[in-house]
Amino acid sequence: MAEVIPIGSDHAGFQLKERLVAELRTLGYQPLDLGTDSPESTDYPDYAHRVASQVEQHAANRGVLLCGTGLGMSYAANRHPGVRAALAWSPEIAQLARQHNDANILILPARFVSEDQGVEILKTWLGAEFVGGRHSRRVERIELDRE
Ligand code: RB5
Repeated sequence: MAEVIPIGSDHAGFQLKERLVAELRTLGYQPLDLGTDSPESTDYPDYAHRVASQVEQHAANRGVLLCGTGLGMSYAANRHPGVRAALAWSPEIAQLARQHNDANILILPARFVSEDQGVEILKTWLGAEFVGGRHSRRVERIELDRE
């Protein structure tokens, strides 16, 4: 069965999101488009929380978010326990986000990458694996222990 990948953006990421939804389908994934549905101005936290909730609740293993800078999406998504949302503006960073940080959400800064760059970043992130080892210890220590 095709892996479901929740994806969301605000208006600034809308155009690139549409392209990435099509690319995900072509690559054999099942994109779950959680909006926005038009280039009308809207608020990024709504979409960040929708996608991050899917990952937090284990309805999906990984997701994709886009906004203008990627920063607002990053702040909101990373408030969800278990979510490691990585802002990547190059394929190299996307690869390291998977290999070293086990990023389970990819965030793209839609106003600072071209559509083709966005597709390359997505493909690289999808194809990279967490390497574990010393990085497992570090990733485990990200979550705050408040006891
Ligand atoms: C929208 O204008 C812009 O602020 C938003 O897409 C994002 O960059 C916020 O972090």
